[in-house]
Amino acid sequence: TELENFVRSLPKAELHLHIEGTLEPELIFALAARNGVALPYASVQALRAAYQFTNLQSFLDLYYAGASVLLAERDFYDMTMAYLRRAQADGVVHAEIMFDPQTHTVRGVPMETVFAGIARALREMRDTTGMSGCLLMSFLRHLSEQDAFDTLDAALPLRAQYADVWTGIGLDSGERGNPPEKFQRVYARCRELGFRLVAHAGEEGPAAYVRDALDLLHVERIDHGVRSEDDPALIQRLREQRIPLTVCPLSNLKLCVVDSLNQHNLARLLRQGLCITINSDDPAYFGGYLLENYLASAKALNLSREELATLAENSLHASFLPAARKQELV
Ligand code: ADE
Ligand code: ZN
Repeated sequence: TELENFVRSLPKAELHLHIEGTLEPELIFALAARNGVALPYASVQALRAAYQFTNLQSFLDLYYAGASVLLAERDFYDMTMAYLRRAQADGVVHAEIMFDPQTHTVRGVPMETVFAGIARALREMRDTTGMSGCLLMSFLRHLSEQDAFDTLDAALPLRAQYADVWTGIGLDSGERGNPPEKFQRVYARCRELGFRLVAHAGEEGPAAYVRDALDLLHVERIDHGVRSEDDPALIQRLREQRIPLTVCPLSNLKLCVVDSLNQHNLARLLRQGLCITINSDDPAYFGGYLLENYLASAKALNLSREELATLAENSLHASFLPAARKQELV
């Protein structure tokens, strides 16, 4: 359609994407066969049929199980390449990709294997098409502070080798009961090391977690942040300080953070002048990549073309690209 072509043609950055959340059921089955991993589902259809979530945790259980088929460098490469090609078809010019090394190292996959496979795909895509990408290594917040420190220590020897792609640090997994303050010291260390910082906050957790992610973790962007609306003073601060929110509409719908897309607050927050961006989170699980997230939001919330263009521009401005490349792309 015309609207689809319009949104596809807007240069866009994807800022909130978990690479393990791009594993389509077909690829899960293919990798399981290749690696001799047993799956508790009879078929691709049976697995896809299980994607009926009631909250964040009900999704995370399947998401971590799905990632268990990733063992070799080329598994990580194949997964990342499939995503990058799909994103490029949607008009994504730059992707900031989160990955969860703890999901893999706990199964005996070396840290190096994870980095090598994902980085090879990012570099190949950059060198052959000009599409850029970078990595945000994310800590699982349901695990301990010590586990996060150990993960950082295991990854730091690889930093120089992956300096062209490893840009920052994220925080994901079950939010409730795992507040930002649990990772205050790890984030302080990451900040000293010069990493760019983001964290999930205000997805299922309260607005106070958004405030704490800003004040205690010193993040530059908030992943989700939709529950900030419960606190008008926080909304004012997000607007005045131009702190980007990486909102994921189809994710919020699938995980019952909102009852329907018409009720999503992203349009209201955008119209209040916040730096809102649209992203896909875990597109293989939530039924749509970036373009579908834009189109579903446009339809449900009557977003104008001007608003859609603003959302796309916001994504480039909120990215961690150097200023000169942002100028080129906008
Ligand atoms: N890991 C993958 N997707 C996530 C989400 N939406 N929230 C928290 N952790 C996640
Ligand atoms: Zn997320």
